[in-house]
Amino acid sequence: MMVEYDWRPEQAVKSLNRILPQVEKTFADKIGQAPDEWHKFKNRLHREWERLFIYLHQLYGWQYDFFYTLQRILNTLVQYWLERPAELKLLDEKREADPCWFLSEKVVGGVLYVDLFSDNLAKLDDHISYFKKLGLNYLHLMPLFAVPKGDNDGGYAVSDYRATNPDIGTMEELSKLAAELRDEGISLVLDFVFNHTSDEHIWAQKAKSNHPDFMAYYHTYPDRELPDQFQKYLRDIFPTVRKGDFTWCEEMKRWVWTTFNSFQWDLNYSNPKVFRAMAEEMLFLANQGVEVLRLDAVAFIWKRLGTNCENQPEAHTIIRAFNAMAKIVAPCLLFKSEAIVHPDDVIQYIHTEECQLSYNPLLMALLWEALATRETKLLEYSMRHRYPIPAGCTWVNFIRCHDDIGWTFDDQDARNIGIDPAVHRKFLNKFYTGEHPDSFAKGIPFQFNADTGDVRISGTFSSLAGLEDAISKQDSELIEQAVRRINLLRSIMVSIGGIPLLYIGDEWGMLNDYSYLSDPTIVNDSRWVHRSRKRWNAREDLTDQDTLEWRFFHEMVKLFDLRKQLPALQNGGMDVIHTGNPHLFGYLRAFKDQKILIINNFSEEPQTMDAVHLNACGVKDDVMNLITNDVLSSGKDLVLNGHQSVWLDIS
Ligand code: GLC
Repeated sequence: MMVEYDWRPEQAVKSLNRILPQVEKTFADKIGQAPDEWHKFKNRLHREWERLFIYLHQLYGWQYDFFYTLQRILNTLVQYWLERPAELKLLDEKREADPCWFLSEKVVGGVLYVDLFSDNLAKLDDHISYFKKLGLNYLHLMPLFAVPKGDNDGGYAVSDYRATNPDIGTMEELSKLAAELRDEGISLVLDFVFNHTSDEHIWAQKAKSNHPDFMAYYHTYPDRELPDQFQKYLRDIFPTVRKGDFTWCEEMKRWVWTTFNSFQWDLNYSNPKVFRAMAEEMLFLANQGVEVLRLDAVAFIWKRLGTNCENQPEAHTIIRAFNAMAKIVAPCLLFKSEAIVHPDDVIQYIHTEECQLSYNPLLMALLWEALATRETKLLEYSMRHRYPIPAGCTWVNFIRCHDDIGWTFDDQDARNIGIDPAVHRKFLNKFYTGEHPDSFAKGIPFQFNADTGDVRISGTFSSLAGLEDAISKQDSELIEQAVRRINLLRSIMVSIGGIPLLYIGDEWGMLNDYSYLSDPTIVNDSRWVHRSRKRWNAREDLTDQDTLEWRFFHEMVKLFDLRKQLPALQNGGMDVIHTGNPHLFGYLRAFKDQKILIINNFSEEPQTMDAVHLNACGVKDDVMNLITNDVLSSGKDLVLNGHQSVWLDIS
C-alpha cells in the first residue's frame, strides 16, 4: 500500500519561519530585554508548533485566510508569554522539570464556592490554614466570574472572563490569592467555561445589535430550518427548564444555539476568531496564576448536522490546540476535562496532549450504585476494563460535587453481568430519591424528563448516605451505619488511582439544605440542595470532639495523611482483584517495592475474603491493616465488618 506523503510537518516549519521574524520585530524591545528567556520560549514554540499547525489546519485550513489565522495565533502566543509574570515563569520551569508532579500520592484536592464558603475572595485568605489542616494542595474555586444577576447556572454563564463577580471580589484579589496559595504549596484550579458565554457577554451584546462579526461568534439562524434539522438528534440537558436547544433572540430576530439554559449561548468554534479569542481568555487566566483549568462541558463544543453534536472529533482537536498553546506560553498549566458522558467518550479526552486530568464520573456513580445494591459486580466489572488511561494522566476521583448524579454506566457492561440497565437505573433513582422502601437516602430528583422517564439525583454526600434520615429518626445505630458508609466511600476516593477531590462541606458531613426552595431564581434547580451556605465554624469547633462534624473532619484528615505516606498510592492506575465475595470490592496499588491491597465491604453485614483469594493477591505473611494497625495472620481468612475498608500493606 502506498503511504500518502504528509506535507504538513514541512509546511509547519515553513510557516513558522515566515511568521516568526515579523512577530519578533513587533515585540523587539521586550524580547531584547530577556534574550535567555526568549530562547527558552522559542524552544517550546519549535517543539509544539508542528502539532499546533496540524490541529489549526484541520480546523481552519480550508478558510482562505488561514495564514492570517496562523499569524494572529503566533502573535497571541508571544504577547501572553511576554505578559506572563516572572514568578509564574519560574513555576513553569519547576513543573517542566517534574511534569508528572500531579501524579504524586501527596496531591489532595478540594472544591468550593467562594461566596458560599467565605462570602468573598478577601476572606478566603483567612481559611488557608484550614485548607492546610485538611491537607489540601489543589483548590478548585467554582466559577467566580462576572455573571448575569439572578439565575446564572451557578456561575456557568460567564459575562466576562477577565472580571470576577463584584460580589466576590476583584481580579487583583484573585491573582493575589493565587500567589498566596502558591506560597503555601496549593495549586489554584478554576473553571474555563468555554462552550458558551452568557447572553450578557460583550460579544453577545454586539451580536444582539446585529454586528455581523460578533453574530459569527455564535450559532445563529434566521428561521427554524436548520435548528429543526439539528434538533432531531439532540438531547435536552435541562428538560424541566426548557425543551429544545435553540432560543429565539428578539433583538437579533434569530434563533441562537443554547445547549444549556436559554441565557447560555454556545460559541461557534468553526470561526477561527472564536478559537483565538477564547485562547486569549485561557492564557489570561493562566497568567493570573491558575495552574489547572477545568474545561467545562467539553463534549458540546463542535456541532455537526446529523449527529448528537457531542464528542465530535473537532472537540478534541480544539482542546489539543489549546493544550499546545498552553505548553508554549504557560507550560505549568494543566487541563481537567469535565465530560459527563458515556464512559467510552470520557476516556477520549484523556491524554498528555489533551486533558491530563479527568473527572471520573463512572467511579462516582458506581460507588453509589454499589452502596444501594450492597453488591459490587457492576463496579468491579466496569472498573476492571475502564480504569486504565494513558501514562502521565490521572483521574480526579470524587464522591459528590456541585452537580447531580447521573447513572452513566455502559448498558452492555450491565447486560454482560445479567443486569437490565433500564430497570436498574429506575431502581437507583427510586432508591436515591427515598421512594424505595429500603432506602436510607434523602436525594432530590433533578431534571425529570417526562419523554424518556430519565432523572438524575441531587443531594449531599451525607444525606445520600443516610445521615439525614438517621438524625431525623434520632437513631444512634442508624447514625453509625451512615458514618460507616461515608467512611467507606471516602476510603475508596482516597486510595484508588487518581487525585481525591473533596467537595468542601463533606469534610464535616454537610446535610441537604432546603433553603433554595424559597429562592425563586433557583427553586427549579435542585442542585442547590447540595450547594449550601451552611457552615461549620471550623476554627472554633475544631476542638469540640463530641460532635459528628469533628469526627468527620478528623477521619478525613487522617485518611489524607495516610495516603501521603504511601508511595504506592501515586499514579492514576490500579488493578481490580478477585475477592470471591459479591459484596467486596478490592484493588491493588503498587509502586516500586510497596504494595497495598485495599478491600472494601459494601454490605452492612460482616463479609469474608478467604485465604485462597488473599493468597492469590500476594498475601503471604502476616500483614497490617494500615487504617487500624491490626495484624492479619497469614493463612487466615479476612473478615471485614459492615462497610469496613482495609488497607493491607503486602509489600
Ligand atoms: C457543567 C457544570 C454545570 C453546568 C454546565 C453548563 O456541566 O458542571 O454545573 O450547569 O456545565 O455550564
